[in-house]
Amino acid sequence: PHDPRVRRLLDRMTVEEKLGQLQQLPWGWDTGPGGGASEAVKKAEDATRAGRLGSVLSIFGAKATNALQRIAVEESRLGIPLVFGLDVIHGFWTTFPIPLAQAASFDPDVARKDGEVSAKEARSNGVHWTFSPMMDVTHEPRWGRIAEGNGEDPYLTAAFAAAKVEGYQGERGEDGSDGSAAYGAKDRVAACAKHFVAYGGAEGGRDYNTVDVSESRLRNLYLPPFKAALEAGAATVMASFNTISGVPAHGNSHTLTDILKKEWGFDGVVVSDWSGVQELIPHGFAEDGAAAARLALDAGVDMEMTSTHLLTYGKKLLREGKISGARLDDAVARILRLKFDLGLFDDPYVDEGDTVDGPTAAAREAARETAARSMVLLKNEDHPKSKHKVLPLKPSVRSIAVVGPFGDSGDLLGTWSFPAAVKKYPSVKVLDAVRRAAPGAKVTYARGVDPEGEDTGGIPRAVAAARAAEVTVVVVGEPPAMSGEAASRGDIGLPGGQEKLVAAVAATGKPFVVVLVNGRPLTMGGWLDSAPAVLEAWHPGLEAGNAIADVLFGKVVPGGKLPVSFPRTVGQIPVHYNHESTGRPYDADNKYSSKYLDLPPDPQFPFGHGLSYTTFETGEPKLSRERIAAHALRRGDTLEVSVAVTNTGDRAGDEVVQLYVHDVTASITQPVRKLRGFRRVTLGPGESRTVRFRIGADDLGFWTNAQDGEFRVEEGTVDLYVGSSSRATARRRLTIT
Ligand code: IFM
Repeated sequence: PHDPRVRRLLDRMTVEEKLGQLQQLPWGWDTGPGGGASEAVKKAEDATRAGRLGSVLSIFGAKATNALQRIAVEESRLGIPLVFGLDVIHGFWTTFPIPLAQAASFDPDVARKDGEVSAKEARSNGVHWTFSPMMDVTHEPRWGRIAEGNGEDPYLTAAFAAAKVEGYQGERGEDGSDGSAAYGAKDRVAACAKHFVAYGGAEGGRDYNTVDVSESRLRNLYLPPFKAALEAGAATVMASFNTISGVPAHGNSHTLTDILKKEWGFDGVVVSDWSGVQELIPHGFAEDGAAAARLALDAGVDMEMTSTHLLTYGKKLLREGKISGARLDDAVARILRLKFDLGLFDDPYVDEGDTVDGPTAAAREAARETAARSMVLLKNEDHPKSKHKVLPLKPSVRSIAVVGPFGDSGDLLGTWSFPAAVKKYPSVKVLDAVRRAAPGAKVTYARGVDPEGEDTGGIPRAVAAARAAEVTVVVVGEPPAMSGEAASRGDIGLPGGQEKLVAAVAATGKPFVVVLVNGRPLTMGGWLDSAPAVLEAWHPGLEAGNAIADVLFGKVVPGGKLPVSFPRTVGQIPVHYNHESTGRPYDADNKYSSKYLDLPPDPQFPFGHGLSYTTFETGEPKLSRERIAAHALRRGDTLEVSVAVTNTGDRAGDEVVQLYVHDVTASITQPVRKLRGFRRVTLGPGESRTVRFRIGADDLGFWTNAQDGEFRVEEGTVDLYVGSSSRATARRRLTIT
């Protein structure tokens, strides 16, 4: 190690103490199988005292963390502080919208804000390290963890990953001193880029499942967000549960060492996932615990979460020459450096009189703004009778029925919201917020159906409420426990009797809007046609009701866009905008083309789709040059794509201008479109603005299948599309010579 402080400590450590630093144990609760939360506390305290523990996860609170830290610092032989980790995924006390929702804002500052607020709240409660951001690109809406990432696109995910890292850690060198990490500050936490890698490729969308992936897809689809997160300074990386072309990620030296540590020069900590080292055995990759420890350490895992194979077998493996002392020291050095960078050797404790003990007014405001900014207006048509669009609702409306199992629910925080749930910071309810937003209206509520299970007879009351009201707000979707880890679904429609409820409200013939609260794309079936307006609100977090009401009543004009395609039926999956070209592209008139006999080729709603209460027009894109030399691009030359966007309606609103590229002929078949630029702009009525994108080799080239990494910019034609969704038709051609 270059750091003399680390070197000095390493020189004084016994093998047991070194192996101890590699161990992380759980504390308050389990986030995986077999953690034994009940005995965890004593186990962790004893191990800390003996200098045989480096880190604890799932602990928070100034008192609890200080007490355990005191044992490490005052009672262990070397007094090395513990590092405390926690899944702060989209908020600590102040729950922001789920990450998938945040991506729908197409505004990375949303993630940055979440990161900043979360870091401040968590750090003041003794948490040093968050296991976030999650950046697993996926084409699988059945996979529950789609809620935790940023959807189906690597470029969008990369932008959000980098912003979130900066939000948590502060920007590199922000402390202005000796280049040590900005996350040493008392209002910052270390980030963790997870899960490395290709976890989102889980076959069939079943969690923890197999992933078989070519090198080119690995590098073009799954790796870019990690690269971006590390460039933003992410201190740590977590290995993933899946196999990568037969080799489990926890034992994969190609991804963890060759790419991450050598090719990219990552010098931070690689932490295993919960029991990920142990799972090398059921994967059929390691024959026993000793082999699992050896394979994981050799592959590049530095810290073992929950299972204890390195601690148990490390000394014997070392004695037998099966692991190297240099690699052990390297892993320990990475962990010690993280602790130094976090400032734990200078001040291992938190000030118990200075904790943020709940959401502040400013944090609540940020949660409300970001949630509203993340909502996507999927549909808003004229109601057949009134000939008016249902949304926005008029504040002068005289009667409103709120209907559906989530209309009066505080459970809209979304997956991974443990601290907020324990301390009881539930979501603001839609019903309460609607009442506040329309004080002159009579607002009634009828649940109709349960969120899951069959219709229990409540629909007639909901229908009566809808009949009696001028307009009905139907709030339906998935309970938060239906997405997130270990929450994959085979059917991704509205659960239980909720579709029946929507159909019954539609049958009244009265105007209504469907508000969806969910953690993944949903299939909508027949009810979609009957609904004049549909607002995708996702799981909006703490300020759910207020943010939904802001959008329903037009205080906020919706401007979000889908970060993921919404399939028509499960049978279409995978259906995503960035699929590769086939030799027989879809052709309705040609039997022998790539299609299903019984389904259209396209999704219900495409990537990038989202409406507004106003209308926009994007003009013809212009290129600063129509030809550019490949060698010039490789040297760093760029070109500009510009386009005028105009608000053609009568109220201010946001449009997300999107730029897609398609390399028409290449030595590796390319996606039919790849997002390479996006900008969310706010325009007043009639206002026009020119949006400019700069693109270069990174945008026009691709990674090949070479194992040691080859990025190519090839000669030929590239089509550039600019518009308001992935279906943009305005095209310009660029020739690379
Ligand atoms: O951080 C998580 C990870 O994403 C899934 N398994 C458990 C970890 C710790 O809670």
